[in-house]
Amino acid sequence: MNSIDAQSAVSLSGLSVTFTQSDGTEHRVLRDLDLDVPRGQFIALVGRSGGGKTTILNVLTGLVAPTSGRVGVLGVRPEEARSRIGFVPARDALLPWRTALRNVEYSLELRGVPRAQRSTIARHYLSLVGLKDAADRWPWQLSQGMRQRVALVRAWAVEPELLLMDEPFAALDADTRQSVRARFRALLQSGPPRTVVFVTHDLDEAVLMADRVTVLSGGRITADTLVPPRDGQEATSDELTGVHLALLRKLREALHEDERV
Ligand SMILES: Nc1ncnc2c1ncn2[C@@H]1O[C@H](COP(=O)(O)OP(=O)(O)OP(=O)(O)O)[C@@H](O)[C@H]1O
Ligand SMILES: [Mg+2]
Repeated sequence: MNSIDAQSAVSLSGLSVTFTQSDGTEHRVLRDLDLDVPRGQFIALVGRSGGGKTTILNVLTGLVAPTSGRVGVLGVRPEEARSRIGFVPARDALLPWRTALRNVEYSLELRGVPRAQRSTIARHYLSLVGLKDAADRWPWQLSQGMRQRVALVRAWAVEPELLLMDEPFAALDADTRQSVRARFRALLQSGPPRTVVFVTHDLDEAVLMADRVTVLSGGRITADTLVPPRDGQEATSDELTGVHLALLRKLREALHEDERV
């Protein structure tokens, strides 16, 4: 009965997801996919648009039910793990009736953090991503990149055991992206080990940030590589050298190979 691996942060085994489209035809997005993510690992998931990356995250949060296969999250079923997961969706999902500050406070409220501490914690996280002065603005008064940063720290603020991030830096300009990445890296290094599942279109970003890069194609994982430790200073892919540059080239080829099919 209990076949979920307690040691893994994520364990997917034989996962298939098929959606029924409006015309009644079936669309098989994930097919018999296996993936095991040990606790503490930072894994990047890359692949072409429409390949099923967001669907995997939705399965992990319990939003999408697998058509078949087994799904374990933090040793339990996705629904049971929800309060231990932080989720940064691809498009910001801020509550429009709450200011930036109150949006970040919201996730703390859900986790039962006492009122007196919520505002201090939320302000701290907003200032980490350069939004100290925007705390009292409403979502409609923020740019897309600012809203995305609020969504990011809303997930970070509760220090979840598992962080799922769907193209989290896509809406940011190059400079902001670099500084937010650096903050994120520092955050991960400062606390207890956390597991991160990171969806990105950007292979460079995957190699710069993750411990492991996987490529999703045809509903399965077609490349799966560990990234050798970096010295931690590289901020852009132009600064990648040696083994990392070679890895980037190899993955780029794997991805383009898929796109030609
Ligand atoms: N709830 C749903 N109902 C029906 N079809 C869906 C649903 N969610 C996703 N799909 C379809 O599944 C496929 C994979 O979608 P998904 O959002 O997982 O791709 P993705 O890899 O995240 O793409 P992108 O990089 O563009 O975000 C798409 O064809 C999409 O239309
Ligand atoms: Mg997506």
